Amino acid sequence: MFSRRQLLKHSSLLAASGLLPAVAWAGSGIRQRVIPATGATLPVIGLGTSGNFEVGDSAAETDPLREVLKRFFASGARLIDTAPSYGRAELVLGSLLAESGQRPHCFLASKLSSVGREAGLAQFSESLRRLRTDRMDLLQVHNLRDWRTQLAVARELKSEGRIDYIGVTHYVDSAHADMAEVIASEKLDFMQINYSVASPAAAKRLLPLAADRGVAVIVNRAFEDGHLFTRVQGRALPAWAESVGVGSWAQMFLRFAISHPAVTVVIPATSRPDRQSDNLRAGYGPDLDKAQCAELIAMFG
Ligand SMILES: NC(=O)c1ccc[n+]([C@@H]2O[C@H](COP(=O)([O-])OP(=O)(O)OC[C@H]3O[C@@H](n4cnc5c(N)ncnc54)[C@H](OP(=O)(O)O)[C@@H]3O)[C@@H](O)[C@H]2O)c1
Repeated sequence: MFSRRQLLKHSSLLAASGLLPAVAWAGSGIRQRVIPATGATLPVIGLGTSGNFEVGDSAAETDPLREVLKRFFASGARLIDTAPSYGRAELVLGSLLAESGQRPHCFLASKLSSVGREAGLAQFSESLRRLRTDRMDLLQVHNLRDWRTQLAVARELKSEGRIDYIGVTHYVDSAHADMAEVIASEKLDFMQINYSVASPAAAKRLLPLAADRGVAVIVNRAFEDGHLFTRVQGRALPAWAESVGVGSWAQMFLRFAISHPAVTVVIPATSRPDRQSDNLRAGYGPDLDKAQCAELIAMFG
């Protein structure tokens, strides 16, 4: 990865370009977390593609996404999560990544949502074609669908060196018990789950279990699919927000997610460049402490 000197140089370039947060993080660059399976690191802010990348090819639709990706990579962020079931998202992402030349810097995660071995292998090949790549960093079994067979497919692909990591995903509290069973019984590299100020249930059992089992955690729905923003309209941030370098509710919701020690990366989805810059700023600054997290849960839970 980067040396401290490279990171400092990178940070001062970003500061000069206005892409860095107003309140500087005492560390250098966007924060990183370790992937337990390998010891490699990942920046704590990633990008989701559900909805926002499900667009056509017109300039009006793709220009904002081009800028979203430009700001994302300029900050040093890397993980992008997509899925074959997200309409045209893989196609649009693949095209913009190829055009930007950023594929080598991107930690690309997609999913398997087929039933049966042959269908799973065919879906993976089609994802590679749509994403214009010959390998993937992470392949996840989507919503635990046909998970025993699809996990076997993912392991097969990993053994062939076509993917680096395997994982499973879900997005609702009612699936946490099933997710816990899979995490406890299978050897996995990643788990992706919902966790937010309004839905903090994953912290009860799933997140500690992932930490115990050495499984990296991707958090989805940190904004509850955007619904949290209607709840904070006209509402001031807590008085302590500035002291932790948090300047917006989006940054607060993301900082909450990455403040759990088991969490590796959070993947907010946006189609707007200004919001991308806002979200990235959450990756610079200290973890919230337990009292601050509890205060947020009490506000939204
Ligand atoms: N089962 C699964 O595997 C699963 C399930 C759910 C999600 N996911 C993954 O997780 C990602 C994130 O989850 P999500 O897409 O459900 O929702 P989310 O990230 O919780 O919320 C996205 C919504 O927030 C808005 N938004 C983003 N940044 C904002 C900001 N700074 N200020 C105000 N509004 C903002 C977006 O609107 P704009 O686009 O207009 O900014 C969008 O409507 C998905 O894209 C997907 O990659 C996976």
